Amino acid sequence: MNKIWRWIQFNLRYFARPPWDTGVSPPELVDYLQSAQPGQALDLGCGTGTNLVTLAAHGWRVVGIDLAWISVWKARAKLNKAGLAGHVIRGNVAGQVDLGAAFDLVVDIGCYHSLGPHEREGYRQNLQNWLNPGGVYLLYAHHKASPEDAHGVSEADFEHFSSMLHCQWRKQSDERRPDGGGGRPATWARYERVA
Ligand SMILES: C[S@@+](CC[C@H](N)C(=O)[O-])C[C@H]1O[C@@H](n2cnc3c(N)ncnc32)[C@H](O)[C@@H]1O
Repeated sequence: MNKIWRWIQFNLRYFARPPWDTGVSPPELVDYLQSAQPGQALDLGCGTGTNLVTLAAHGWRVVGIDLAWISVWKARAKLNKAGLAGHVIRGNVAGQVDLGAAFDLVVDIGCYHSLGPHEREGYRQNLQNWLNPGGVYLLYAHHKASPEDAHGVSEADFEHFSSMLHCQWRKQSDERRPDGGGGRPATWARYERVA
């Protein structure tokens, strides 16, 4: 999907409530928050901010970034309504974005898998800059339906991440999130930046 078309599509979908926008944070994130010391967290493709609110409620200082104006606006409103602080930026996770900080936790729930191959490279470079040594990267991504499929991840994507970061665990998602993936399988993966 090209960038402009994706931007239009996501904005249009956020006029209504897209299927992934459940208002509930996934257990893989909540479990991590229950055992981790709060620090600074970044949510890539933060949508309407449900996970920003969960993070901030657990004491994290949060920054969210999303392509779609409407979701950025909704995420700011959601944090505001919950009485929680956070910054939500309209931007491209694969582009040049100066966030002015590095993070102890970077979360991506459903964003990376929709990027094109060049964008994935830019995203991974950004991830290197945005993740602190000792920081954790938590990813949820759909699998490709076929090797030609532009949407979704393949083993090559996980190899890229493993060449940059230490893989703590990977598992196929037991629950099919209602996230517009057409019911295809997905993987959760957690990485740590060692140095
Ligand atoms: C499937 S939604 C998931 C939203 C949110 N993480 C959640 O779990 O509700 C993917 C999100 O990634 C955003 N997105 C897609 N490509 C992006 C890009 N290049 N830069 C920033 N955000 C992007 C979309 O606007 C959308 O909000």
